[in-house]
Amino acid sequence: MSVEWNNFFSKRTKNITGSQIRQFFALTERPEIISFAGGFPGNEYFPQEEISNSLAHLVREESTQALQYSPTEGSFELRKVLSEKMNREGKLCAADNLVITDGSQQGLDLLGRILINSGDPVLVEEPAYIGGMCVFKSYGGTNVGIEMDDQGPIPSSMEQAIKKQTREDRRPKIFYTVPNFHNPTGITTSLKRRFEILAIASRYNLVIIEDNPYGDLYYDQEVPLCYKALDREERVIYLGSYSKILIPGIRIGWLAGPGPVTEKVALAKQTADLCSSSLGQQLAYRLSKEGYVDRHIAKLRKLYRRKRDVMLSAMDRHFPAGIEYSKPGGGFFIWVNFPSYYPSSRELLDLGLQQKVAFVHGEGFSSNGGGLRSARFSFSQPCIEDISFGIKILGDIFWEVEAGCTLKAAAQQF
Ligand SMILES: Cc1ncc(COP(=O)(O)O)c(C=O)c1O
Repeated sequence: MSVEWNNFFSKRTKNITGSQIRQFFALTERPEIISFAGGFPGNEYFPQEEISNSLAHLVREESTQALQYSPTEGSFELRKVLSEKMNREGKLCAADNLVITDGSQQGLDLLGRILINSGDPVLVEEPAYIGGMCVFKSYGGTNVGIEMDDQGPIPSSMEQAIKKQTREDRRPKIFYTVPNFHNPTGITTSLKRRFEILAIASRYNLVIIEDNPYGDLYYDQEVPLCYKALDREERVIYLGSYSKILIPGIRIGWLAGPGPVTEKVALAKQTADLCSSSLGQQLAYRLSKEGYVDRHIAKLRKLYRRKRDVMLSAMDRHFPAGIEYSKPGGGFFIWVNFPSYYPSSRELLDLGLQQKVAFVHGEGFSSNGGGLRSARFSFSQPCIEDISFGIKILGDIFWEVEAGCTLKAAAQQF
């Protein structure tokens, strides 16, 4: 008799739906496809030489630390280097208030575990990072979208959402935000907005989860001070990551927060994985302590700036005027809004895939059924030539769509 596995899974697993985008990545990562879909770093920017030398050194000379288990909170020396980085950036944080995680994704997951009860509303940006929304949902939370404009989340939308949820007896206690070069829109929340959001958080007693994997990758000007730096009430939990500024393959990130939070996170982490990869932590430490990571970031800024500029100027050149897109000052993403008379971005994606070019349609990023005529374009992974070529192909498709819509509208007038 074969096992009917669905009868074995816990009730909890019903909330684990995964991201439709991850499923779709398999398709878009096929070599014959030019993909603007994945938010992955450029493979060609991985510092192979330094990593290879450091790994050889660690295995030969520092094997006790690099190959053994490490403390659950993370190696103290890495936490110290990271707390110094945070302090330089005004995000005051002692090494003791910092936990090393398996990428910031694990930070989100551990926070979901310790903060969310089934049925809790979680305020998220609209649209929001899918990986965050999936975590909150997996712990039984309901994602409640806060509308954004080009300055970031809109305070009045946030207050309305809080009041509505509270009236329905579900007072929100968490706001999750990606304030710098937001995934998926590329928007950076202005300093004024950060103060306004913090004031709302204080008024309604919310904690803020500030997820900042892209803040170091600015191409025009530095980002405003982080919520963590502006916070005077210990209500901000900060997530950082090496994935975009070094490599995602080591799966090393960090979580910085008030003592009671990091203590609980460390307890939750003990049951999750005992500790993050010691080899990964030692590698991150070695490459950070003497400034290699900082120099690498400075290089990445120039390299990704070029890719961003190429994508934006190709869009200027090839897209019909009615298509609007964000002009991000850093990070990996451009958010595209198609005119209301266009077919859905899902249908446009199908047309793109027929010509072997992919992007991500907007629906998956929405907690309220939005994003039908939006899409996320990532410029980080494809090479410069593919960016120009892929955008031209899509531009040709969109012009045809535009012509089809105009003809249809004309025919309806007769
Ligand atoms: C906003 C955001 N948060 C978290 C993550 C997860 O990153 P990590 O590799 O650090 O787990 C990503 C990855 O793309 C992201 O875009």
